Amino acid sequence: MSGGSDHPKPFGPNTQLVRAGYDPFDYHGFINPPTVHASTVLFPDAQTMEQHGQKYTYATRGTPTADALCNAINELEGAAGTILVPSGLAAVTIAFLAYLSRGDHALVVDSVYGNVRHFCDTMLARFGIEVDYYDPAIGPDIEALFRANTKLVHTEAPGSNTFEIQDIPAIAEVAHRHGAVVTMDNTWATPLFFKPLDFGVDVSIQASTKYPAGHADILMGTISANDKHWRQLKRANGALGMAGSPDDAYQVLRGLRTMGVRLARHQASTVAIANWLEGRADVARVLYPVLESFPGHGIWKRDFKGAGGVLSFVLATDRKDDFKSKAQRFLDELSLFGLGYSWGGYQSLALQVDLSDRRVLQPPEEGPLIRLQIGLEDIDDLVADLERAFAAAALA
Ligand SMILES: Cc1ncc(COP(=O)(O)O)c(C=O)c1O
Repeated sequence: MSGGSDHPKPFGPNTQLVRAGYDPFDYHGFINPPTVHASTVLFPDAQTMEQHGQKYTYATRGTPTADALCNAINELEGAAGTILVPSGLAAVTIAFLAYLSRGDHALVVDSVYGNVRHFCDTMLARFGIEVDYYDPAIGPDIEALFRANTKLVHTEAPGSNTFEIQDIPAIAEVAHRHGAVVTMDNTWATPLFFKPLDFGVDVSIQASTKYPAGHADILMGTISANDKHWRQLKRANGALGMAGSPDDAYQVLRGLRTMGVRLARHQASTVAIANWLEGRADVARVLYPVLESFPGHGIWKRDFKGAGGVLSFVLATDRKDDFKSKAQRFLDELSLFGLGYSWGGYQSLALQVDLSDRRVLQPPEEGPLIRLQIGLEDIDDLVADLERAFAAAALA
């Protein structure tokens, strides 16, 4: 856990990624920070102990390794402070616990990451907190959903699996007029392509599991708040006892150093594959904000500097009664694309999207929805893999 750094930000995004968060000469010139394994921190005397008169007091309250990562995230997000938590899901749930109390009402986008909906419908409901789900395309009309007790608006853009872009500045303006805190899950774009706090968001959330870690081997989340909301987040973190492990923090910081080049590659390959998919007769629709045909494209272009490497498409079929077997034929034929959920690593992934939990949005009628994460493989190999899968699906 750490407050904001004093570094000016004159550098480009990749230079910033290389340097952020840690000065090698703070630790004998070693270019990477030490991985500090600790629970106990010793004090030199009783008075220092009594007054907590030193920088580190207990490892849940910060270590040099956690600080190096938090400082780096603060710089990227333009945040007053960041906390580390054990997963991306925990980053959303802990942000909600930090700002919501019994009797409050929250507005959560209907295209939210599915496990967040489960948290809202089970634990928040148990704690007497009501949640309404809103259409991601709502923009300033979200005002009609506000109640006197609406305390939090949660955004995620693009939405999970269906990639709707939200008008974040318009929503934030309404929320602030009503005194509500605005949280955003910005995992797809990362702060390289969208800086939530610059667009009116108060609390920016990332599953560092995905692009920051980048190798499908770490679970971690970050929650970054602006000046106004940092103290409350820090207090909640202290009360809950959340901490990221030093080894994972080290690996996420290591991943951040190369995140820019990895994202550039993910983006270039995904844009090429999105265009290729859009030209196919056996694809009914491609859901990716970079495409001009996509409804949220205008806002994406206005607000975002780039795109993540996850998209969905609707596999066209006449068999309205059996989307599943068509999708499974397609998926089972893939060999380079692994069948797996957690994206952001180096390998391409695919799955059939389940939209049965949506309250506002209707699933596509033209066929099953397939989500792809485009990895770092050679694009010709990926296209050949997809070609084989389309051919197999055509037989279903
Ligand atoms: C948009 C988004 N947010 C949060 C998460 C949760 O991250 P984690 O797997 O670290 O819990 C995911 C996971 O897929 C995600 O896609």
